[in-house]
Amino acid sequence: MPDAAGVLPQAQSAHETLPEAAQGSAAVLAEITTGLLAARPYISPKYLYDTLGSKLFEAICELDEYYPTRTEAAIFARYGADMAACIGHGASLIDLGAGNCAKAAQLFPLLRPQQYVPLDISAEFLTQAVYGLQQRFPAIEMTPLGLDFSAGFSLPESVSASRRLFFYPGSSIGNFSPVQALALLRNLRANAGEDGGLLIGIDLVKNSAVLDAAYNDALGVTAAFNLNLLRHVNRLIGADFDLAQWQHYAYFDAAASRIEMHLEARTALSVQWQGGTQQFARGDRLHTEDSYKYTPQAFQQLLQSAGFETVQHWTDPDNWFAVLYARAVP
Ligand code: TRP
Repeated sequence: MPDAAGVLPQAQSAHETLPEAAQGSAAVLAEITTGLLAARPYISPKYLYDTLGSKLFEAICELDEYYPTRTEAAIFARYGADMAACIGHGASLIDLGAGNCAKAAQLFPLLRPQQYVPLDISAEFLTQAVYGLQQRFPAIEMTPLGLDFSAGFSLPESVSASRRLFFYPGSSIGNFSPVQALALLRNLRANAGEDGGLLIGIDLVKNSAVLDAAYNDALGVTAAFNLNLLRHVNRLIGADFDLAQWQHYAYFDAAASRIEMHLEARTALSVQWQGGTQQFARGDRLHTEDSYKYTPQAFQQLLQSAGFETVQHWTDPDNWFAVLYARAVP
């Protein structure tokens, strides 16, 4: 597969003045060090999304091979009204994939929530996005919250306790292991209350050639996205990863029903960073992310174990992606 390793070192040496470029905290250093020294080395996927990484991921979403984003958008466009009919107006819409809030905002005219609660680790980022939205939708009470929902949370009293509808698009739930996903869903159920619900996007199991292509695009954007992690880590912990020595490696593990993303050493090498060093043999891998794919049945079972019952699900003509609406079981 072609890769962009030849391009990236140039970007690496560029005189970047990103605020995030400064350096990581002691906690970040400790966390990344633990991963690099593990028996099966890994780096947390959260470091994929620095400024360039976020732009590369946007580019991934434009690729022919990467179907999830556009397929989910088509499902919302086609069945949004049907979803609203199922869910009803006046909910408190709690957005777990907020980012720029665009996906939820598209549903506002149909869902007509009474309150909109976008969650993001960075409340500051949300405040900007919400400012513009509030002008467009003055009738909706907007309550942005800086909160890491993956860590177990409870919503403050500023969020209406009735008709809580969690919105979790983008199949991000697939980036958790099934055990973690269940814990997250249980936590949502605990916060939903008896009349709450969940509208969630999941990527479905399909032909493995389609899955493999989605994570191994011909243009090499996915490879660049994955390799950029090393560039980010170099800045965060003063590491000396040479991107030309690594290659993107992703494949579908059918037994585990997941895409595994790795970075693979092209040669024997060693890496130094603040207070640490690690050797890699040729072919050794650094694990970067998993992306679990579900059958509708398997995911409905997970929902059930978490205390939700599926009311309805919508899919595309190829059955590649699904959006499910589930209600809390009282
Ligand atoms: N969350 C995305 C997904 O699972 C992230 C992703 C797409 C990704 N391509 C990647 C992560 C390549 C690492 C490497 O689809």
